[in-house]
Amino acid sequence: MATGKPGALDLAGMQRAVRWYPPAYDIRVEAVPIPQIIDPDDAIVRVTLAGLCGSDLHIYRGHEDVDSDLTCGHEIVGEVVALGPSFHPQASGRPELYSTLRVGDKVVSPFTVSCGECHFCRIGFTCRCVHSCLFGIPTLPGGQAQFVRIPKAGGTLFSLSALQSPGTGLVNQDLSHLTESSLILLADILPTGVFAAMQALQHPKVAPMLTGKPYPFGGNVLAGTTPGQASAALQPEDRTLTIAVVGLGPVGICATISLLDILTSLESSQGLVYQVIAIDPLEARRKKMQAIYNVIDSAENGSGRFTVASIEDGKRLAADWTSGAGCNAVLEVVGNNSALTLAYEVVRPFGIISSVGVHQEPPLPFNGRDVYNKNVSFDFGRCPVRAMFPIAFDVLLKRQDVFGSVGTNSSLVEKVVPLDQAVEMYKLFDKGDCGKILFNPWI
Ligand SMILES: NC(=O)c1ccc[n+]([C@@H]2O[C@H](COP(=O)([O-])OP(=O)(O)OC[C@H]3O[C@@H](n4cnc5c(N)ncnc54)[C@H](O)[C@@H]3O)[C@@H](O)[C@H]2O)c1
Ligand SMILES: [Zn+2]
Ligand SMILES: [Zn+2]
Repeated sequence: MATGKPGALDLAGMQRAVRWYPPAYDIRVEAVPIPQIIDPDDAIVRVTLAGLCGSDLHIYRGHEDVDSDLTCGHEIVGEVVALGPSFHPQASGRPELYSTLRVGDKVVSPFTVSCGECHFCRIGFTCRCVHSCLFGIPTLPGGQAQFVRIPKAGGTLFSLSALQSPGTGLVNQDLSHLTESSLILLADILPTGVFAAMQALQHPKVAPMLTGKPYPFGGNVLAGTTPGQASAALQPEDRTLTIAVVGLGPVGICATISLLDILTSLESSQGLVYQVIAIDPLEARRKKMQAIYNVIDSAENGSGRFTVASIEDGKRLAADWTSGAGCNAVLEVVGNNSALTLAYEVVRPFGIISSVGVHQEPPLPFNGRDVYNKNVSFDFGRCPVRAMFPIAFDVLLKRQDVFGSVGTNSSLVEKVVPLDQAVEMYKLFDKGDCGKILFNPWI
């Protein structure tokens, strides 16, 4: 079995990994072969931290129709221990890491493979890369292990060693306060939180609140600049932006923090008035959100209204705070139909539901008449993590007060545990009885 430092490793040996067996709720910690380079674009990474995520729970609960065993996990921070032959100083015309990545470099891997070279990667929709593959499925072993194979590694990986090289914009920044445990949040949940917020705030239907121009003159390239003459001028209450976040697990907390960060800067740059309602049925999750907000609040929050609420209180506030109109936007960060139903209930006509929850096969809980009658817009789906990295990295640096610590009541990361505790941690996380858990495969 592989132990100790990379130099002493026998990469042909065995390693420990968290494994899931069908049909559901069956986690085992087992010895499996260390992954090998099988494609020239591969890298092998020695995992220093691996996250346990709400998305792992969909497989854990047997909701993903997976019928063979697998190595779990898709949130990975580690160190490169082997590179395929595509990596060499003269590699040109390819993503930069093919010529610059070295054995020993510290890296974060997004939860899916993205080549960096296809149409979808070039345009920024990296989660729909033509080579996209999720870590932690039967065909691509995941990161809750001592080692992991990263396909298309020159496009997929984010190198922290290269961060302060010339041209990155971070050359003169002090990154010494960036903690190792916070880096794992870049693999998935922080970019996903940023994505949930941006998808709502960049939607043309919220443009009137941001720009003060009525629809459709709010800022789209086709909209022109001349508002029509039919309506009265926008009133202050028309411009108040009300947003609900549905679900306050680790991803919902990241979404709320990212949302508040953007709203606060819009408040100072253009006087935006905003209010945010953060909703979860579980008291422990609400308490964590409130404790985190209190830390942010005392530091540098904007003056917008913010409250943490149960489902019933959230519905009531969404109506009370908006004279019955409802929220302009809802971030759905749960992944079940009860959350989508709630999002639909609290969104106002011409509102937007930005859904990052992973949904399963059952039909959506709305019919054609429902969606017609509210002119509601929906955006669903996977976060293009690789594209969101720069923005998420900025939020990570700024918010080390909540992302940087482990185990305090205002830390997002609750604890770092050995792989041996996986069975227990999956059980606790499944019930919402713990927050974000990280595995250190070497303790
Ligand atoms: N789109 C993406 O790329 C992406 C990336 C990461 C995670 N996800 C998904 O995001 C979701 C959240 O992840 P997480 O790790 O925070 O999960 P989690 O299971 O820890 O948290 C979900 C929270 O939603 C709450 N909840 C359940 N029903 C609710 C309802 N009706 N209204 C309000 N809240 C409700 C639960 O109490 C829980 O606190 C999951 O579906 C996960 O798979 C998606
Ligand atoms: Zn995840
Ligand atoms: Zn691609």
